[in-house]
Amino acid sequence: MNKLIVFCLSLCLSSVSIAADMANGKALSAQCSACHGKDGLSRDPEAPNLAGLSALYIEKSLVDYKKGARHDRRMSLIAQGLKKSQIKDLAAWYSAFEVTAKVPEI
Ligand code: HEC
Repeated sequence: MNKLIVFCLSLCLSSVSIAADMANGKALSAQCSACHGKDGLSRDPEAPNLAGLSALYIEKSLVDYKKGARHDRRMSLIAQGLKKSQIKDLAAWYSAFEVTAKVPEI
């Protein structure tokens, strides 16, 4: 019985450490909002919107900037300062934003 409890506990703890921490992503996003907007909608014409992008894409982009597979003078510097777990947390945060689009009528 005790063994079972220990097993369950360790399973829970390990899944917690693997899961992205959205609250941490929110805290980290303070350093992104000057360019990408607090709501993930950029006000800087050179910076893309992050709101609602898939976590997979955000994570890939940041890893690419970090490794040098994608280069931008601002993002490469920023991504180099991020740990893999922080990248996952930021990806979880921005991908959870809901966006709606209005298709132009022509
Ligand atoms: C100084 C302004 C600035 C800051 C601060 C900044 N970014 Fe960026 N970000 C940019 C620009 C400009 C681009 C477009 C670069 C390019 O052309 O590849 C970009 C691109 C990105 C992309 C790729 C998006 C896409 O559609 O391909 C991601 C993801 C991203 N930033 C995440 C972040 C995160 C997360 C932070 C905070 C940790 C952050 N950025 C902070 C300016 C900034």
